[in-house]
Amino acid sequence: MKRALITGITGQDGSYLAEFLLEKGYEVHGIIRRASSFNTSRIDHLYTDPHEKDARLFLHYGDLADSSGLRRILGKAKPDEVYNLGAQSHVRVSFDQPEYTGDVVGTGTLRLLDAVRDYIDESGKEVRVYQAGSSEMFGAANPPQSEATEFYPRSPYAVGKVAGYWYCVNYREAYDMFVANGILFNHESPRRGETFVTRKITRALGRIKLGLQDKLFLGNLDAKRDWGFAGDYVEAMWLMLQQDKPDDYVVATGEAYSVREFLEEAFSIVGLDWEKYVEFDPRYLRPTEVDFLLGDPAKAEKMLNWKPKTSFKQLVTMMVEHDLELAQKEKTLVDAGHDIPPSMND
Ligand code: NAP
Ligand code: GDD
Repeated sequence: MKRALITGITGQDGSYLAEFLLEKGYEVHGIIRRASSFNTSRIDHLYTDPHEKDARLFLHYGDLADSSGLRRILGKAKPDEVYNLGAQSHVRVSFDQPEYTGDVVGTGTLRLLDAVRDYIDESGKEVRVYQAGSSEMFGAANPPQSEATEFYPRSPYAVGKVAGYWYCVNYREAYDMFVANGILFNHESPRRGETFVTRKITRALGRIKLGLQDKLFLGNLDAKRDWGFAGDYVEAMWLMLQQDKPDDYVVATGEAYSVREFLEEAFSIVGLDWEKYVEFDPRYLRPTEVDFLLGDPAKAEKMLNWKPKTSFKQLVTMMVEHDLELAQKEKTLVDAGHDIPPSMND
């Protein structure tokens, strides 16, 4: 049985990847952060009591800011594959918390690589590492962006990811480690954090449709993104670690839409005119914006035999339907006299 260790297992991608690897028969270890309230809702459905004989998902407290903890976890989990998905992943928040974001996203990757390097030396095992790189690294570079495009990061988050990318290349070349950088374009799902624009829209839309909310405040509607489905993208992560040689790959759909087009598509599903509900709030603008991300996934298609399975329309529909159902549950609570929290903003 292969063993995998996932940082960021409680996030959107971590939950889909854990599901995918468990289905493939892996023993999966995940790093979670201690929090004052539960933060495992995305993986609760996968968890069984570790005392059970057939348990294959194990969680460890740790943090990418804490290298001694990472080293201890590697010793316990004894992984064949390590997926580094942990990050302060919100671009606008990275302008509020630049130092922390750089530490976790950039230096955190270095801490993990160095811990894996020593673990390989001590154990004699081959350990393969996947690094969650981002299309944000391309930033202001002209689209379409491919593996050959130069990075031009536009936020502390993106600069941190560029650092992480180069640490990975360096460890691959210096120590002959199997490290693959995935350069993933935006990917969404019903499990997407509620402060990213797609989920912020579909969450608000559900509530607007059911009369629980009447306005949605957004920033720049002209930005274009190459949006895919997170469930499709975790397969590409895994495929990168099944190759004979480590390499770097762009993962994208090859189609881009603006935030405005996402709004049009989502609101049209429920027969509403988005312009009646959406208002501009400059709070959601970034000091430096990334205007246009459009990936060229030709290398991943050719070398990994990977293709996205979910279209833009299917993705938007899946998210809208999920959030209508969620709003329906909230409406039941409201009708019974309970309060629901206001929708998230960011
Ligand atoms: P996400 O939903 O924000 O999840 C981030 C995960 O990282 C969570 O499990 C979070 O834990 C954990 N984390 C945060 N700070 C940490 C720390 N200091 N130490 C250890 N873990 C920490 O992000 P995602 O959308 O799943 O993305 C996964 C990875 O891919 C991230 O590295 C992201 O930057 C990158 N990426 C994402 C996209 C995308 O479109 N989704 C595209 C390109 C790259 P808590 O649950 O405790 O907060
Ligand atoms: N979050 C947010 N909230 N974004 C808004 C809003 C708003 O109210 N209004 C407009 N936008 C615009 C942003 O300015 C940006 O141009 C676009 O919507 C997408 O924003 P996000 O959904 O926050 O995602 P992102 O593209 O900045 O970053 C995501 O994708 C990266 C890959 O390209 C994150 O998942 C990153 O972690 C990931 O690396």
